[in-house]
Amino acid sequence: MKALLEVRDLRVSFGATEVLDGIDFDVYEGEVLAIVGESGSGKSVTALSMMRLLGESAEITSGSLRFSGRDLLELSEDEMRKVRGREIAMIFQEPMSSLNPVYTAGFQVAEVLEEHFGYSRKAALEKARELFEMVGIPAPEERLRSYPHELSGGMRQRVMIAMAMASEPKLLVADEPTTALDVTIQAQILALMKDVRSRFGTSVLFITHDMGVVASIADRMLVMYAGQIVEEGSVESLFESPRHPYTQRLLACAPSIGERKERLSVIEGFAPSPDAYPGGCRFHPRCSEAIERCSAEPPRLVRGVRCWVAEDS
Ligand SMILES: Nc1ncnc2c1ncn2[C@@H]1O[C@H](COP(=O)(O)OP(=O)(O)OP(=O)(O)O)[C@@H](O)[C@H]1O
Ligand SMILES: [Mg+2]
Repeated sequence: MKALLEVRDLRVSFGATEVLDGIDFDVYEGEVLAIVGESGSGKSVTALSMMRLLGESAEITSGSLRFSGRDLLELSEDEMRKVRGREIAMIFQEPMSSLNPVYTAGFQVAEVLEEHFGYSRKAALEKARELFEMVGIPAPEERLRSYPHELSGGMRQRVMIAMAMASEPKLLVADEPTTALDVTIQAQILALMKDVRSRFGTSVLFITHDMGVVASIADRMLVMYAGQIVEEGSVESLFESPRHPYTQRLLACAPSIGERKERLSVIEGFAPSPDAYPGGCRFHPRCSEAIERCSAEPPRLVRGVRCWVAEDS
């Protein structure tokens, strides 16, 4: 399989605090790659790094993000804006925060087409109507003229997906796009994302807490813990035989799709804070399998797993 995006040794700090500690992964062409892990493990920071949307207080201290042969970290702000408009699109958990409340939904989708693809206003609105239809927005003609606050959460998320697909991006980054939605709508949005992937061959980087969602949409998954990848592999193999004790626990306490269980609270102990990550393996204080070596020496990611115990077995 061909890699569309190659992330190598990505390190991100906020001030003196390092929150991503050398992230390495590939996104292959046409695949859905899920990133899972507890709150604060670095999923969103990873996604925002790809878009170079981390904000002023963050610093990418090392690494490379090779996308279609270029390192995104070396592009000028202008070049990066083009990449965001036409090659990588992102959708968020709360679409209200990325839709502009003062413009109609149709205008905002049309604007992408005008700005990045030179459509006339008329052609852009026509294309926007087609996109609304494609993402299953009923009465698309009228919805073009709706303002974001006039739409339900599910409809706003569809508008976001339409806007993201307007540019036919090679990569769609979705940060918990269904978490705020109720179960039925969630299932519809997942079905829509699968449809988008098969229709355009778009690669998707999908961030979620929900293992049910992973099972339903992803081909491969990365498990993050405390700013590191602790395990990676195909969804099939990780669900069948997870090797890292953290992945094992994550799967053991996974609610089924959409279930509103308190998320991952079943894993004992607290997620450590980035300014005080434990030495050795960062998971060792919470790990029932830990041996002496685990508190002394940090394990590396070897053949898909970062664990002294799993590596030896
Ligand atoms: N703007 C910021 N300033 C300082 N620290 C930040 C900032 N954004 C994120 N962090 C820290 O970086 C770490 C990773 O955060 P991130 O948002 O990536 O977690 P996450 O895995 O997406 O969690 P969640 O599941 O809650 O969305 C956390 O410790 C967080 O507190
Ligand atoms: Mg997040």
